[in-house]
Amino acid sequence: MTTIKAIRIEKTGGPEAMTLRDVELGQPKPGEITVRAKAIGVNFIDTYHRSGLYPVPLPSGIGMEAAGVVEAVGEGVTQFKVGDRAAYASGPIGAYAQANNVVASSAVKVPDGIGDEQAAAMMLKGLTAQFLLRQTFRVEKGQTILWHAAAGGVGLIACQWAKHLGATVIGTVGSEEKAKLAREHGCDHVIDYSKEDVAARVKEITGGKKLPVVYDGVGKSTFISSLDSLAPLGLLVSFGNASGPVTDVNLGILAQKGSLYVTRPTMFHYAAKTPTAMQEMADDLFSVVKSGAVKIEVKQRYSLAEAARAHIDLESRKTVGASVLVP
Ligand SMILES: NC(=O)c1ccc[n+]([C@@H]2O[C@H](COP(=O)([O-])OP(=O)(O)OC[C@H]3O[C@@H](n4cnc5c(N)ncnc54)[C@H](OP(=O)(O)O)[C@@H]3O)[C@@H](O)[C@H]2O)c1
Repeated sequence: MTTIKAIRIEKTGGPEAMTLRDVELGQPKPGEITVRAKAIGVNFIDTYHRSGLYPVPLPSGIGMEAAGVVEAVGEGVTQFKVGDRAAYASGPIGAYAQANNVVASSAVKVPDGIGDEQAAAMMLKGLTAQFLLRQTFRVEKGQTILWHAAAGGVGLIACQWAKHLGATVIGTVGSEEKAKLAREHGCDHVIDYSKEDVAARVKEITGGKKLPVVYDGVGKSTFISSLDSLAPLGLLVSFGNASGPVTDVNLGILAQKGSLYVTRPTMFHYAAKTPTAMQEMADDLFSVVKSGAVKIEVKQRYSLAEAARAHIDLESRKTVGASVLVP
């Protein structure tokens, strides 16, 4: 047992539900490694766990993603040794801590040339961009796509990647400052969805053709405009709920708006598709980052004790790109 500092929640609620505590971390179980965190990724999913939108057994830790050094190795683990640099993005929940025990098969080695903060800023968000752009719908050269919240954590990575794949990228943002950032990160066209009619602008940009795919992590507030931006038989990839979840949908709306498809995917299922899926997705991500096609920047940094402030900033749309906690 080692005593570490970790963020805990006793019950779900606002950012104040998170408190920094001393907790005991046991030895890694068979198949697990202990990762001593150098940097911890902050993701919107952490706010859903904290608020109760995605229920977790309580009391609980918070956080799915961190990068650091392997401090202990459980029985049967062959792919890691003590001292290796490692990162993980699919939990177990509790990454907002000085160390966490994680299943070795869901962690990856961090290659040289990628720093700890960079790794913590890119794993969950970058693997999400990977499965959305390369698996859920394979974006090809010459296509035009729409990415909501283009200046967000997933957004800045995905827009650069989509541009690198040869797509024309339309991004939505909530402010002029975010519009500039989105343009600098691969967006050919930027729509301020706080002021403009998204579907009308998409129609204008595409000369009336509209889109084969819309990537929507905003949810409730963009659902209808996303459907209205799709060409017949187009695909809405609804991958998050930053503005609230989409509920009570009459499926008939998909017929009315052009025999549309909708999927509601999560990274965790794609990463578990095969025993090597996580590593393959990470290799794809590392290759676009190492080539310089996708740049990973930490835009906000907080101490572990400031986790609540990180959530307040993320939920109030103050952040751009990726945020990390430094333990
Ligand atoms: N399915 C998966 O496997 C998966 C994996 C990772 C992330 N996600 C989802 O991807 C989305 C982006 O995650 P992220 O961590 O990178 O967050 P983020 O994009 O950095 O932050 C969310 C952004 O959404 C926009 N937004 C629009 N309406 C909002 C509202 N009412 N409240 C708060 N934000 C609002 C804001 O940008 P503007 O100010 O420009 O509007 C905000 O910055 C989230 O929905 C997340 O759950 C899904």
